[in-house]
Amino acid sequence: MSFPHHRPRRLRTTPAMRRLTAEHRLAPADLILPAFIREGLSEPNPIASMPGVVQHTTDTLKRAAAEAVELGVGGIMLFGIPETRDAEGTASLDPDGVLNKAIRDVRAEVGDSLVVMSDVCLDEFTDHGHCGVLDSDGYVDNDATLEIYAKMAVAQADAGAHVLGPSGMMDGQIGVIRQSLEDAGHVNTAVVAYAAKYASAFYGPFREAVDSQLKGDRRTYQMDAANRREAIQEVELDLAEGADMVMVKPAMSYLDILADVAAMSPVPVAAYQISGEYAMIEAAAANGWIDRRAAITESVLGIRRAGANVVLTYWASEIAGWLKES
Ligand code: PBG
Repeated sequence: MSFPHHRPRRLRTTPAMRRLTAEHRLAPADLILPAFIREGLSEPNPIASMPGVVQHTTDTLKRAAAEAVELGVGGIMLFGIPETRDAEGTASLDPDGVLNKAIRDVRAEVGDSLVVMSDVCLDEFTDHGHCGVLDSDGYVDNDATLEIYAKMAVAQADAGAHVLGPSGMMDGQIGVIRQSLEDAGHVNTAVVAYAAKYASAFYGPFREAVDSQLKGDRRTYQMDAANRREAIQEVELDLAEGADMVMVKPAMSYLDILADVAAMSPVPVAAYQISGEYAMIEAAAANGWIDRRAAITESVLGIRRAGANVVLTYWASEIAGWLKES
């Protein structure tokens, strides 16, 4: 009988051995907390399909941001839900609108100790729920939308965002936003491009989170789940247009895309563990079907292992808390 000399199990014998030989580990600084603020709320409003996540008031948002700083979380990504909506998403440009005000409030709370990021997209602000304005056929008009994004970006930079996150998947959005930031003197405001963003069924709970008015889908502007090669083109275009970071979204069903992008990107790569990914794990855990903490940790580690430098996850502060205690 011959026994193996090479025994990978040697490195798995004790917790200390496994810790020493781990190729990847989670750190609070690599995590970004997405957060929602809703105009006109007096109490935080729970989001039913995302247990544990709320639509914040100004006060609770500031507290969540302060807690994230305390825990060493890397950044916060803000989404605003306005009281009034129209076809052009006009409220997005108001310097005192819900999102721009939230950026200012959070910056006043955290200064530079947390990277403050904000969503540049019209879907929360339009009464039809699309990420851009519509032409007479109801098609999302790319170039008309870009003109609004350019103004929205400057308004958010004026409010103090460190990083802008254009998530609407309009062609040319990074270039137009970069140019408008330069023209306005915001040369140090960075842009994280939602470069490879797929039309996904897993955004379902987010639509509740932002009270989305969308009927139909976003398949004429977000990517098709069938496509892999196309992600590289999207990333290359965004890099050429001046993206400072690139993002893949969703994360868990798109780890191949993440690995492809990580292999070619000269800039940091982000991945967004989206609302449906959060909801699935929470639902299974609530039923006692999986170990909640172990499943959350494994899911985010898998995203890091696939190549993400930073991960947007609704569990950012909770994970950071676990890392602190361990
Ligand atoms: C669009 C946007 C969406 C998400 C982030 N930005 C929704 C969409 O594209 O339909 C989804 C995030 C999530 O599901 O957690 N502004």
